[in-house]
Amino acid sequence: MSGGFDRRSFLKLSLAATAVAGTLGAAFAAEPGTYVSGGAAPAHVEPDTWTYSTCGFCGTGCGIEIGTKEGRPVAIRGTKGYPVNDGLLCAKGIYQWKMITAPDRGKHPMIRKGGTLVQASWDEALTAMTDKLKALLAEHGPESIACYNTGQLCMEEFYTLGKLMRAGFRTPNLDGNTRTCMASAVVGHTRSFGTDGPVGAYADIEAAEVILIAGSNMAECHPILFARVVKAVEKGARLICVDPRLTQVSRIATIALPIRPGTDVVLLNAMAHVIIREGLIDRAYIDAHTTGYAELEAHLRKYTPAYAAEICGVPAEDIEAAALLYGRAERSLSMWVMGINQSVNGTIANNCFHNLNLIQGKIGKPGCASFSITGQPAAMASREVGGSSSYPGYRAIGNAQHRAEVAALWGVDPAILPDKSPSITEIIDAILEGKIRALWVICTNPLISLPDQNRVRRALEKLELLVVQDAFATVDTAQYAHIYLPAALWAEKSGIMVNSERRLNLLKPAVAPPGEARTDFAIFLDVADRMGYGHLFPYRTTEECFEEIKRLTKGRPNDYSGATYARIEENRGLQWPIPDERSTGTPRLYADGRFNTADGKAVLWSVDPVELPEVPDGEYPFNLNSGRVQEHYHTGTKTRKVPELNHLVPTAYVELNPRDAEQLGVGYGDRVRIESRRGEIEARVVVTSQVAPGSCFVPMHFNEGPVNRLTVWAVDPFSKEPNYKQQAVRLRKA
Ligand code: SF4
Ligand code: MOS
Repeated sequence: MSGGFDRRSFLKLSLAATAVAGTLGAAFAAEPGTYVSGGAAPAHVEPDTWTYSTCGFCGTGCGIEIGTKEGRPVAIRGTKGYPVNDGLLCAKGIYQWKMITAPDRGKHPMIRKGGTLVQASWDEALTAMTDKLKALLAEHGPESIACYNTGQLCMEEFYTLGKLMRAGFRTPNLDGNTRTCMASAVVGHTRSFGTDGPVGAYADIEAAEVILIAGSNMAECHPILFARVVKAVEKGARLICVDPRLTQVSRIATIALPIRPGTDVVLLNAMAHVIIREGLIDRAYIDAHTTGYAELEAHLRKYTPAYAAEICGVPAEDIEAAALLYGRAERSLSMWVMGINQSVNGTIANNCFHNLNLIQGKIGKPGCASFSITGQPAAMASREVGGSSSYPGYRAIGNAQHRAEVAALWGVDPAILPDKSPSITEIIDAILEGKIRALWVICTNPLISLPDQNRVRRALEKLELLVVQDAFATVDTAQYAHIYLPAALWAEKSGIMVNSERRLNLLKPAVAPPGEARTDFAIFLDVADRMGYGHLFPYRTTEECFEEIKRLTKGRPNDYSGATYARIEENRGLQWPIPDERSTGTPRLYADGRFNTADGKAVLWSVDPVELPEVPDGEYPFNLNSGRVQEHYHTGTKTRKVPELNHLVPTAYVELNPRDAEQLGVGYGDRVRIESRRGEIEARVVVTSQVAPGSCFVPMHFNEGPVNRLTVWAVDPFSKEPNYKQQAVRLRKA
């Protein structure tokens, strides 16, 4: 493992050192040839109109208003009184209007001719696309066609696309980039509670005595949520931070546990062990509302703090102290994101959080939640209405009864609805095997965001048809596209997004799409009509579509029956379930202790971690971790168009501990070559005690130093979510 240093001194030294490191990962000049929007920021222009909307970046789901002057975007402000952010915004939120008019917005469709994409009409592009799809259907059947989407459309678009792919094309091959982010949370919820759906509310942050944040650099990735945590800590809440990196979150923590990468399951099992040993459980709750306790208690006997300390690399006393702090509080809250989910142990780690809270009865009460936080602004909507690996209303792909219900509501034969749902890594492998011949990529950039880029590149090159539908014509994946379709951005649409706390909020169009760009909704309906599936779509507006969606959620966990666009806006968002028009939403799930399993009880899981796919060794001695910075989002398609953001963090870098930098003979700003068994990149060095000796961290946002050329092709066995957080690399001075 990561031997040779004492993690306790790492903790002490790092907390001192990071205090001066500041929030910015890098402040180098951009590399020549990388895209930076040039020029000074335009002078402030006073809007003549403000339009109600929702932030298009992260799953926090801040309310925003888009300022326009004569129809042009000129400002964004936070919505005062909005329950999520009360007027506050982070840097990405404030500046996002600038991407709307970026010069590389797609303004017309394009078709590849003689090696280059050339301008085409919508009719030419969609005719070429649907002719090829019809030919593939006839010759090779529905399974030769696949679609890979996003967490950044609106609910009505996810629903329409899901219906189009499954009831129209009848292909099972539909997945989203949500797989790479939340799939372990989805399966974790389903295994513990019977269906997906985050249980908590942001209001639990203010109500909690103790907050546990694990595998989340919330200060950078969900800044407004973190602002609420900081306020709670200032008022006396205590914070436990679990993260191999000592990020800003750890700096305000009462206890920081910089565990060895990928050892979360052991730590969480040990915390539950201490809580059981100390009698800090809620026996009545366990008996009434859970199954599996006796087995869990026996299973956890070996998970002593001393045993966990050996594996996790943090002191046994600290594990004990964290468990006691969490267990003795009346109200404690756990929150986690990708550091937990993006691992071969992602799903079972989610189950360990739910175990920890269930045995204490800390679910469905103010200040108590087992709360998985979402990454993208509408990833939740996709999960809820069948945008990727489910049917609408949290119905399961593999459940015949659920398929029959959907078929009845859609007026189709249940036999046509696919009963399986391959993941994107399975789709890529099926392309390489020649089984999938066409891929439609919507608002995501798999060439940069999927693991093992060289493998993904081979797959994209092999496709007979790659359609890339995106707001930006320069999105990297378009390098391989046969057809490019220009799509509208969030500010140009009407529809619903859903945040991490199940809050439906509204997008209202503030500006018109540029050139001939269309909303994804309009593109889907046009493709449906051309394929002869128009009868499946009796609606023509997103609002009419939402009325249909409501019928599919009636009586389901995510019941939207009582929501309308007007009510959502009036109430500043509504948290589902919203069973009728008197309902103002439901802050917490399972307040009555009844879960969505057959017997109504939650399931406690006795789990042990599996081996990581790759650990550092003599040849590749460093652990590589990947993630995000505050200034950028995903593959930078949007944020690198915004000068204020891109000038702060303009290019790829790698965080190295001072000890390792010295041993490698490199200093701040030097270029290093980073190699894994799958590929290599170059990046600038940032020397920081934020990372432990033997580890390094590379942000995922930069196509000139794409970390996913290095990452490993391995997935969680339950959720099929890729293991982005732990792999082995070596470094040398470039
Ligand atoms: Fe947007 Fe997230 Fe920032 Fe809020 S915290 S302004 S939702 S990016
Ligand atoms: Mo996740 S980034 O919310 O799909």
